[in-house]
Amino acid sequence: MIFSNKLIAWYLDNKRFLPWRETKDPYYIWLSEIILQQTRVAQGLPYFEAFKQTYPTVFDLANAQENDVLLLWQGLGYYSRARNLHATAQKVAYELNGQFPTTYKELLTLKGVGEYTAAAIASIAYDEVVPVVDGNVFRVLARIYGITSDISTQRTKKEFQQVAAGLISKKQPAIFNQAIMDFGAIQCTPKGTNCTPCPFITTCVAFQTNQVDKLPVKLSKTKVKNRYMDFLIYLDADGNTLLEQRTKKDIWQNLYQFPVVDRFEDTVIDPTKHIQNQQLPQAISQVECLTTDVIIHQLSHQKLHIHFWLIKTNQTLRNATPWSELNKFGFPIVIHNFIQSLTV
Ligand code: ADE
Repeated sequence: MIFSNKLIAWYLDNKRFLPWRETKDPYYIWLSEIILQQTRVAQGLPYFEAFKQTYPTVFDLANAQENDVLLLWQGLGYYSRARNLHATAQKVAYELNGQFPTTYKELLTLKGVGEYTAAAIASIAYDEVVPVVDGNVFRVLARIYGITSDISTQRTKKEFQQVAAGLISKKQPAIFNQAIMDFGAIQCTPKGTNCTPCPFITTCVAFQTNQVDKLPVKLSKTKVKNRYMDFLIYLDADGNTLLEQRTKKDIWQNLYQFPVVDRFEDTVIDPTKHIQNQQLPQAISQVECLTTDVIIHQLSHQKLHIHFWLIKTNQTLRNATPWSELNKFGFPIVIHNFIQSLTV
């Protein structure tokens, strides 16, 4: 049996029932694909449902306030995805009369839509014969065909795209692509400890040569930088605190935070030296570190070492936000969780 028939037969027996698979509507398919970038299906599912319910059409999403979109996105990370999601909804709604582009090439012009996402939408929504290639696909094809090229290079990506283009079903590209996604997620997993029920077992090069745990080959490891952040939680006599919005091109762009002492060296800080004088001339009544153990928050390229400090004053802070209104602001998840831990 040829590869695509075997894969599709496996899929029909094993596929996951996912809400975006009930439809051909490009809005929902696009939404699901953006949510699933760098996110597992189990984690993305509730977000898909929440977005679908809150913004049932691309016009609803386009008309939303960016902060509300970021709030709903809270916890998924990689917030540039949410900003691009909103920008693309506005483009589709206002410039394209609510119609998503219908080809792989045109889909690539949308913000936040890269090769994988464009291929997924073009195939799933419009049956265009274009293969998806990501980490799952590298793994499946590297193992079955014994491909030993280093998957961290652009050239290898092209090589896998060519292999996948030769394998994809011309009649059922939508099913083929979703089948390879599920096969990589369920059967041919990174640990690869479950090969006995695999339909490719008799021909899989990795299995036959005992190299399942060696493939795919990835030589370069991503460098992770350490970053140290001490957040200053001001609290005045009226229950107000200070917030600021992160505007720079950096992690968490456009999200809110408490004023922060932010550095790449592992130095211990004295928070009283960083108090914002313009808002708080004198009269600090209490300074306390709220985190006995440092909070470690791992991002893809940065490892954050976080402390929170309480700085109380008997005065009234200027330009302050009532603590009771914090739920209106989109925070990075690590700050959101810390606020929750204080208030429950
Ligand atoms: N990962 C990325 N896109 C997906 C999809 N459409 N179904 C399942 N997993 C996915």
